[in-house]
Amino acid sequence: MTVQHIGVTEVRSAAIATWDFGLRAVVETGHAITSGASLLDAVERGVNVVELDASVATVGYGGAPNAAGVMEMDAAVMVGADLSVGAVAGLQRCRRPISVARAVHDHCRHSMLVGSGAAEFARQHGFPEEDALSEAARAAYEEWVATQAPGTVHGHDTLGLCALDATGHLVAACSTSGISFKHPGRVGDSPIVGSGLYADNRAGAAAATGDGDHIQRFCLSFLAVELMRAGATAMEACRQAVQRVLDTPGGPPTREVSLVALSPEGDLGAATLLERFEYAVWNASGAEVRCVVAADS
Ligand code: GLY
Repeated sequence: MTVQHIGVTEVRSAAIATWDFGLRAVVETGHAITSGASLLDAVERGVNVVELDASVATVGYGGAPNAAGVMEMDAAVMVGADLSVGAVAGLQRCRRPISVARAVHDHCRHSMLVGSGAAEFARQHGFPEEDALSEAARAAYEEWVATQAPGTVHGHDTLGLCALDATGHLVAACSTSGISFKHPGRVGDSPIVGSGLYADNRAGAAAATGDGDHIQRFCLSFLAVELMRAGATAMEACRQAVQRVLDTPGGPPTREVSLVALSPEGDLGAATLLERFEYAVWNASGAEVRCVVAADS
């Protein structure tokens, strides 16, 4: 377990992110917040750190391609102050999809752009056309083509990040290359507001990771935020939201469901249906990776 104690001037500020690789994202976000960056800038910078890290095999550059060997990435950002959003899905030839989602938020009259329209928007807003397929991802894809049955599902670990600044503003963001070797055109939960992420300054923020084909059936992030609005702590809200998946008539469609949440007071929460789920936090006490076990264990 990694603990990094860093200087914090605002006691309420906090960030929480999915997975252990989220630690670098929350640390960068925290540094940006304490340096005076806007919360949106801070979150974008935090997510960029992971997107540009080729060793993370499910996010941005170095992420997994689709079944045709093409990188198609999903990302979204939501601002809790006014419930505004920007999202991209199936974005190709870009290493920083969250920045394109941010540009959609800032400069587009629409909330979500997909496929070639998203790529064209990215070019128009100065994002270079870049190969997002790393050598390692290409090799993994070639091995999959040679050895796996079509349709085999591999990892889909999304970077989901929620952050709070000292003025009580919340932002949530997601970035992922989606399920490895997915059907071309497949879009998961991550860029879909309410499913992959949600933020409302008056209630809280949440972000999900796991099997997005099923997570989007439950609007998990919205559910967690609404539970906080009704009085649940961030931890209780996450547990009750994943319980909704467990309670599916006929049984849960997947156990690949994990959630992080942040209240307007800086209260942190996480829950999972996996045996074990690591998430990263940053607040006045420093930054560390924490772990929760399955909500029904
Ligand atoms: N949760 C990411 C995905 O399923 O695409």
